[in-house]
Amino acid sequence: MSAERVVLVTGGNRGIGRAIAERFVRDGYRVAVTARSGEGPEGTLTVRADVTDAADIDAAFTEVEQQLGPVEIVVANAGITKDTLLMRMSEDDFDSVVATNLGGTFRVVKRASKGMLRARFGRVILISSVVGLYGSAGQVNYSASKSALVGFARSLTRELGGRGITANVVAPGFIETDMTAELPEDTQKQYKASIPAGRFATPDEVAGAVVWLAGDDAAYISGAVIPVDGGLGMGH
Ligand SMILES: NC(=O)c1ccc[n+]([C@@H]2O[C@H](COP(=O)([O-])OP(=O)(O)OC[C@H]3O[C@@H](n4cnc5c(N)ncnc54)[C@H](OP(=O)(O)O)[C@@H]3O)[C@@H](O)[C@H]2O)c1
Repeated sequence: MSAERVVLVTGGNRGIGRAIAERFVRDGYRVAVTARSGEGPEGTLTVRADVTDAADIDAAFTEVEQQLGPVEIVVANAGITKDTLLMRMSEDDFDSVVATNLGGTFRVVKRASKGMLRARFGRVILISSVVGLYGSAGQVNYSASKSALVGFARSLTRELGGRGITANVVAPGFIETDMTAELPEDTQKQYKASIPAGRFATPDEVAGAVVWLAGDDAAYISGAVIPVDGGLGMGH
């Protein structure tokens, strides 16, 4: 039964990651979340980890393996923005975003793949962004780190697709979380006007797509990019 599987969601203490963890719990999965601060939702095991640190990730996986069993579904969700125009973007603005969003995904998925290969089963779900393929002024660092996840998932599909492992990307548009709450009201209004759905999404609407990709119905889907963006990125 897919619902008894062990799931690990990075950054499960708030925002989209928390909604994803809640949805997996509701569907009966055994769920662990990584958090740098705070706790995951009720019914989850919270393990401390910073995704920029490989030793932290290794320790977090070991703890989950001991308490729940090998991780069969991994959701690489932890991510940050450091927005500014290219001319003003510092080395650190660039490097820290890439190290978290892309490097973090690498560390987490590499560690997860060990157990998945042994089990000959795995679901890798990477949380990208509409901005990865659509582009966005002031987000060269973020956009590059997010489009890279498409190449990551597709290469992984070619490497591990024959071992019962799928790797897919979910590309949310604008979602109501702390990340978008930081945007000035005027900017939020402009964005809403350009989204065919005319509104931002709730984190739970992203969670629905993630849980579907983790389930039995999505066993033959790999290397795909699933947009959850109200039509904003069509064709990108
Ligand atoms: N909100 C949107 O509109 C939107 C749209 C498209 C894609 N996304 C993507 O969706 C994902 C979640 O976004 P969100 O809106 O839920 O963001 P959020 O509310 O800002 O939460 C970000 C999460 O990532 C964690 N995190 C950040 N850096 C980390 C690190 N170095 N190590 C471990 N955890 C770290 C945070 O942990 P702490 O609480 O400890 O900081 C937090 O749990 C991100 O990858 C984001 O790029 C969001």
